[in-house]
Amino acid sequence: MKKMVITMLIIAVACVGLFAQAEVETANVVLNKDKPLVFFNRQPSDPVSGSIDMESMNWNSKTYYVGFDAAGGGAVQGKLIVDYLANCTAALDRNGDGTIGYVLCIGDVGHNDSKARTEGIRKALGTWNGSTDPGVSKVGAVNVGGKTYKVVELEGKAMTGTDGSTWNANAATEAMGGWATKLGNQIDLVVSNNDGMAMGCLQASNYPAGVPIFGYDANADAIEAIGAGKLSGTVSQNVDAQATATLQVLRNLLDGLTGADVYKKGISEADAYGNKITPPMEYRAETKALLAQNSGVNADNWKEYTAGTRDAGIKQSTAPKKKVLLTIYNASDNFLSSSYLPALYYYAPLLNIDLIVVQGDGQNESSCIDKFTNLNSFDGYAINMVKTNSGRDYTDKLKY
Ligand code: BGC
Repeated sequence: MKKMVITMLIIAVACVGLFAQAEVETANVVLNKDKPLVFFNRQPSDPVSGSIDMESMNWNSKTYYVGFDAAGGGAVQGKLIVDYLANCTAALDRNGDGTIGYVLCIGDVGHNDSKARTEGIRKALGTWNGSTDPGVSKVGAVNVGGKTYKVVELEGKAMTGTDGSTWNANAATEAMGGWATKLGNQIDLVVSNNDGMAMGCLQASNYPAGVPIFGYDANADAIEAIGAGKLSGTVSQNVDAQATATLQVLRNLLDGLTGADVYKKGISEADAYGNKITPPMEYRAETKALLAQNSGVNADNWKEYTAGTRDAGIKQSTAPKKKVLLTIYNASDNFLSSSYLPALYYYAPLLNIDLIVVQGDGQNESSCIDKFTNLNSFDGYAINMVKTNSGRDYTDKLKY
């Protein structure tokens, strides 16, 4: 009997020990809903009004957006074009009708960046008529080489591919071909809201030779085209700063930093491992957004933007290895595939982040969501949505 009581006591003590151990382990497990989440490049927002989707941004205290100053970028692009025209010595008005006619590649009508660029360009040229929609513009005025000309937006188009994907370069090639045939020498200027579409326009076999053309993004092929005199200008949205900041904010949150340290360490101040990016970034608390600055690129300064210019302020960190799942809305997006992803792949190992990238088709959210899986095995998430109002589809998957 005594032996049996002792045995039972031993079993009871062992059980208590086991339960206690299980409790400690549960306490160490971070639930997905409490892990860091960074939206990047496509800001959670309403595709029509452009207002920020704060429900997604407030998913948890570790949710942030990393991008760039979209409105400021539109203004930079507008100024780049207006400055070019003011300094023009060659005859620009091809049919001599006293009007500068331009065509506009809009990109994605529901995307903040696209809206901001359309607005910036139209405001600079005086054609802004209160809306970023295709076809909504008025007659403006601009100084070309010291003389004032009228400006008309001959046509503007969203550039959706046959597969439904946005910012589509092939659609731009086709549209440019059609515009060149239909509008002939009324076209004095071509403006595109990204480099992919601008390079697409230049692919049109009947592209009117010598007509100035502007893009946005400072992709390597666009910079090269500026050097070769084919592209007149582009805008850098500082992809290195954005890619590093996306990873650094995750790193900071995973290292347990809180408050301003989350968006400052490694960005405007050195982090614990001695890392800090060189360019300034702005933090907007009301939208939890960390934004890079834009700069104009043209024939005078393109050499400063040649590919491979990585930030020397980021060196190998000794931080503990963490695993992050990152989505890209469209594997074929020119900017993300040729500029953003290579930067992420360069900086992630330096920050000791094991980056798993899944990519979508640019049209159906499910092409990304279906690969947003095995969520328990990741320490944090970085999301680039197909539609800017799909934030909830991702956070819903993180609830469990
Ligand atoms: C870039 C575009 C790109 C888009 C993707 C924008 O910021 O300028 O080139 O297609 O992001 O979301």
